[in-house]
Amino acid sequence: MNTAPEIHQITPSRIMETAMAFFASKTLLSAVKLGVFTTLSGKALSGEEIQAALKLHDRGVYDFLDALVALGFLNREGLLETARYSNAPDSDVFLDKNKPSYIGGFVEMANDRLYPFWGSLEEALLTGKPQNEIKHSGKSMFEALYATPERLKQFIDAMSGISIGNFTALARKFDFSPYSTLCDIGGAAGILSVEVAKQHPNMYCTSADLPAVEPIAKDYIASKGLSGRVNTVNIDFFTDEFPKADIITMGMILHDWDLPNKKMLIRKAYDALPEGGAFIAIEALIDDDRRKNAFGLLMSLNMLIEFGVAFDFTGSDFQEWTREAGFRRFEVIPLAGPSSAAVAYK
Ligand SMILES: C[S@@+](CC[C@H](N)C(=O)[O-])C[C@H]1O[C@@H](n2cnc3c(N)ncnc32)[C@H](O)[C@@H]1O
Repeated sequence: MNTAPEIHQITPSRIMETAMAFFASKTLLSAVKLGVFTTLSGKALSGEEIQAALKLHDRGVYDFLDALVALGFLNREGLLETARYSNAPDSDVFLDKNKPSYIGGFVEMANDRLYPFWGSLEEALLTGKPQNEIKHSGKSMFEALYATPERLKQFIDAMSGISIGNFTALARKFDFSPYSTLCDIGGAAGILSVEVAKQHPNMYCTSADLPAVEPIAKDYIASKGLSGRVNTVNIDFFTDEFPKADIITMGMILHDWDLPNKKMLIRKAYDALPEGGAFIAIEALIDDDRRKNAFGLLMSLNMLIEFGVAFDFTGSDFQEWTREAGFRRFEVIPLAGPSSAAVAYK
């Protein structure tokens, strides 16, 4: 059989695109970090004006800005010295720091933490050990991150950025009408509780997290005018039982831990729910055949980088672990992009 024509049809372009994807990734991360999109909020500026505002060196200005044009994150009229740059519509909504829709917190954390840590992926694959701050300090990730207010705030902002789209979708898609109370375990800034309370006047929500996080959550909830129906509670989910509620939610909590701790958290959720209550885990759930959700699989590698033993999982893994805890009915609700809500009913 002559296979030559097929061989000719094969090109290395997909390999090169992924191999060099970090060029594009780091260009966007740097643009957010340096404040390109915030500087261009609602206006068009010349390269020289952007250079002055961001204190950029002459050498890279036009390569940097035109690369952002070619990648679709900036618009441009004119060329080089006559050019005027402005934000593309999505950059303007999501990457301008002064807008409430800003999701750049996650991008900033990706720039400052994940980008350098992923440089040690081979070491993680060879040793199974985390490659983040804890590699040298021996402290747990949350201990290390929460030791300074700036890092704590950056991490919580990052979580808000990556999660808000999922929580808005959950508030829209899940039927909250049979329930009246919800407790979000590891609730960070309280985004999930706020989104549910905003869309469902029947719901009273509690955002439960470590004490260091509470002031940030209280501020956020008050800023949305929801302090009457969303409260905060301090909890250490290793030592404390969960507050009782009709619904227990966990956004990207289970994937942070090894299997025994995942099962411990599921059991505590089960104990806190009434008969008919719902346990909802929001994650970049991997498809059962582990072929399609590349983001979920890469997120699981990110958990190797962050924690070593932690891992992401499929809907059928969730069903197996929650059934073992006593849950009786299950469903998966697709949310934003590669994320889903895995739901187990008691
Ligand atoms: C990956 S973040 C997820 C935040 C949020 N649920 C979301 O989906 O965006 C994990 C959260 O778990 C909280 N957390 C970590 N260890 C905890 C503990 N022992 N007890 C309670 N919360 C904890 C962290 O403070 C953080 O807010």
